[in-house]
Amino acid sequence: MTDNLEKEMIKMKIVSLCHACEACPVVKLDGDRVEIGEKDNVCVLTRSGWETLKQKILNKEIEAEPIRELTTDNATELARKRYDRTAVVYDLCEAISERFGYGKWRELLWDKAEGIHILEVGVGTGKNFSYYPPDAVITAIDFSDRMLKRAKDRASKQKVKVRLQQMDVQNLEFEDNTFDTVVASLVFCSVPDPVRGLMEVKRVCKPGGKIVLLEHILSANPILGWLMNLVNPLAVRMRGANINRRTVENILRSRLRIEQVTDLFAGIFKLIEARKETLVPYKGLASQRR
Ligand SMILES: C[S@@+](CC[C@H](N)C(=O)[O-])C[C@H]1O[C@@H](n2cnc3c(N)ncnc32)[C@H](O)[C@@H]1O
Repeated sequence: MTDNLEKEMIKMKIVSLCHACEACPVVKLDGDRVEIGEKDNVCVLTRSGWETLKQKILNKEIEAEPIRELTTDNATELARKRYDRTAVVYDLCEAISERFGYGKWRELLWDKAEGIHILEVGVGTGKNFSYYPPDAVITAIDFSDRMLKRAKDRASKQKVKVRLQQMDVQNLEFEDNTFDTVVASLVFCSVPDPVRGLMEVKRVCKPGGKIVLLEHILSANPILGWLMNLVNPLAVRMRGANINRRTVENILRSRLRIEQVTDLFAGIFKLIEARKETLVPYKGLASQRR
């Protein structure tokens, strides 16, 4: 295989191999180690495994298609449509979890919010409305208009003051340094590029501001973790949420400072408190010598 062809294949979605990832599987060649996939969905092959795979693609035994158009935007569109589709049954599906866990966790989550100007990301059908701090000025966004429609109905029923806007967390339309706190519950499991979303959250949060997340993540238990990775593609198709995200690591990657991680259930559900660092002006060596 020529170098050019190999480079071309690096830009391919290998359809019949990598069912785990619906974003764009990218091939990374690193010595004898070859990684296919991105973010949380990476299959590792040996170099010889990769050579065999390439041959099968060339022989058309394995289906592969170019991924140039399969960017984060396409993955986002796919995820958004899933939530549009499931909006009608969302509350029903979550009813039991809500009664036996989420309800009290939401209370803990909103207890941690600080300041007046608060952004809720991925508001869904508005399940957090009952926990909003009474004096806060709250803006809530979601990329699914059907979820948002339900949130609007709930807001008017519950007489909750909230500015609801359709927006993608990966491309927030707010100015830098706008909010005192950004809150999200059960959202970063379905954001196609969670680090990009978290960087946006950081951008719109004021310096020294707080980020509070309630999230489910990949279990650290090797057997359970393996099972979660195995079942993940099904979970994504059925509910739109990945059950194997490494959200704590993603927060660190977005250069937010983690203040506290509270385990809520079996190491899978976590309450995560983070902060956007305040930049301290550099005083220079002269002042340090004194
Ligand atoms: C599992 S639901 C959680 C809803 C709500 N936060 C709750 O606790 O019930 C995930 C929500 O995040 C929204 N969401 C996912 N990815 C998003 C994105 N990139 N931008 C904005 N909203 C997103 C979905 O539309 C959905 O409403």
